[in-house]
Amino acid sequence: MDKFNIAIDGPAGAGKSTIARLVAGALGFVYVDTGAMYRAVTWKVQHEGLLPEQEDEVAKLVNRMDIKLIPGEGGQQVFVDGTDVTKEIRSAAVTTHVSLIASYAAVRQSLVALQQQMTKSKGVVMDGRDIGTHVIPDAEIKVFLTASVSKRAERRFKELQESGTGTMTLSELEQDIARRDQLDEAREISPLRRAHDAVLMDSTSMTIEEVVEEILGLCKDKV
Ligand code: C5P
Repeated sequence: MDKFNIAIDGPAGAGKSTIARLVAGALGFVYVDTGAMYRAVTWKVQHEGLLPEQEDEVAKLVNRMDIKLIPGEGGQQVFVDGTDVTKEIRSAAVTTHVSLIASYAAVRQSLVALQQQMTKSKGVVMDGRDIGTHVIPDAEIKVFLTASVSKRAERRFKELQESGTGTMTLSELEQDIARRDQLDEAREISPLRRAHDAVLMDSTSMTIEEVVEEILGLCKDKV
C-alpha cells in the first residue's frame, strides 16, 4: 500500500485525538497529536517559572527545548528535554494558557517545522488546528471535525475522568472550550479554519466508530 497523509483539524474536544489514533491504527500509520506539542511548550514555560505573557522569553525557550513524541500504547508519549510530561501536559494550568502560547509566531514556526519533518515520509495521521491549511496543505485526505460545544465538553470531561487527570468541572470545561475556540479562531497566525478541500464531519450525534468508518471510507480509493 502506498503511504499518504491524513490531516484532521477541528476545535477542542471534537474527538480528533481518539479518532486520529484509531484511524492510524487501522491503516498502520503513525499518529501525531500536535496539540500535545503546544501543551509541551506551555508546560516548559511554567516549569521554568516564566509567565505565558513573556513572549520574547517564550520564543527563546522554544528554540532551545527538545520535544519528542513517542508512539505508545493508547496514544503518544511526550518528552521535554528527556522528561516524560505525558500526564502533566493535560493539567488545568497548561490547558488554561496553551492557546496564548500557541498564538506566538516563534512557537508556531518552530513546531510547524518539526511537524512538517514528521510528515515527509508519509503514512501520518496528524491532528490539530492548522494541519490541513498550513502544516500539510498537500495532505491526500483532509477532515474538519466538529461537534456542539456541550457535546465536546461532555466528551472531554469523560476522557479526563477516565485518565484520572480531571480537575475541572463540566461547566468549567465548557467555558474553557468556548474560550479556546474563540482564541484559536481569532488569532492572527494560522487560525482554526476548515481548509477549502477538507471534508466537514459533525460528530455531535455520531459515535467514534462511525466517524472512524467514514474517514476509512475516504481512504478506500487510496489503498
Ligand atoms: O488539541 P488540544 O486541545 O490538546 O490543543 C491544545 C491547544 O493547542 C489548542 O487549544 C490550540 O490553542 C493549540 N493548537 C494549535 N495548533 C495545533 C494544535 C493545537 O494552535 N495544530
